Amino acid sequence: MADTEQNQGAGTNMMHSSILRVIEDKKNINQKLSNIKHKIGVYSAKGGVGKTTVAVNTAFTLSSMGYKVGLIDADIDCPNTLMFLGIKGAFSDEYPLKPAEKDGVKVVSTSMFVDDVKKPIIWRGPLVAKMIREFLDNTDWGPLDYLIIDLPPGTSDAPLSIIQLLSLDGFLLVTTPRHISAVNTIRSGMMAKRLGVALLGVVENMSDGSGNGGEEVAAELGCDLVGKVTANKIFGEMSDSGRVPVLHDSSVKQEFENMIRKAGLVTK
Ligand SMILES: Nc1ncnc2c1ncn2[C@@H]1O[C@H](COP(=O)(O)OP(=O)(O)OP(=O)(O)O)[C@@H](O)[C@H]1O
Ligand SMILES: [Mg+2]
Repeated sequence: MADTEQNQGAGTNMMHSSILRVIEDKKNINQKLSNIKHKIGVYSAKGGVGKTTVAVNTAFTLSSMGYKVGLIDADIDCPNTLMFLGIKGAFSDEYPLKPAEKDGVKVVSTSMFVDDVKKPIIWRGPLVAKMIREFLDNTDWGPLDYLIIDLPPGTSDAPLSIIQLLSLDGFLLVTTPRHISAVNTIRSGMMAKRLGVALLGVVENMSDGSGNGGEEVAAELGCDLVGKVTANKIFGEMSDSGRVPVLHDSSVKQEFENMIRKAGLVTK
């Protein structure tokens, strides 16, 4: 009996110390990143809804408004962000990591460290978490107004690591108008709420009047629908050739500026 109690005591102590370590880790990382004013995740549990599109165009809209912006590609095993920016061969062996840069926006991605973008990156959870940690803890970001984090789909390793390690201002959730996309985006919103992360708003992307996904997510989660980004072939065409739509099309830029203001990311 006494032995069992002793073992339980040891188990509780171990759990206690690992929780303390997580809290300490988060404190240290956020202290290191204290010269970054806002940290915003772009997220949905559903794949292909336009998280990278929204993250990239939000980052470049903020940059064009005069803010200093960084971008993390937290899609560690299927990184796309650098392709959307037309950045190739950004490898740097400097440590702390030196972000790649396009038009003043700093960016880090696993694709900086692979020699062929088509090569699969087959990593288990702990390695994914380790890479995210490097992007946060050992990257020379310098002072930034905004750090935008492009999350992968799902509700497991990468979103959990980000939530665990970073004090986020909150998530922008992305859905398409379709019901299935909305349901999966609601999952991510519920995860965020359960883990105490604020929801800054819902963006309905690829909006074409075919459904009410944006309204559905906003109503279920009790947050604002902050914008509808129209389905527009410019996104596919430009992203495929590494150009950022908001830098080339004033109506797309206006959609993003409206969304940014409605989500309260900027006040002026
Ligand atoms: N508003 C839009 N209109 C037309 N095409 C779009 C729009 N938004 C995104 N796309 C296109 O849809 C595809 C998927 O977009 P994107 O890669 O941003 O989605 P994602 O949610 O990041 O995907 P993943 O889950 O794989 O990370 C891309 O080819 C992109 O160019
Ligand atoms: Mg993506």
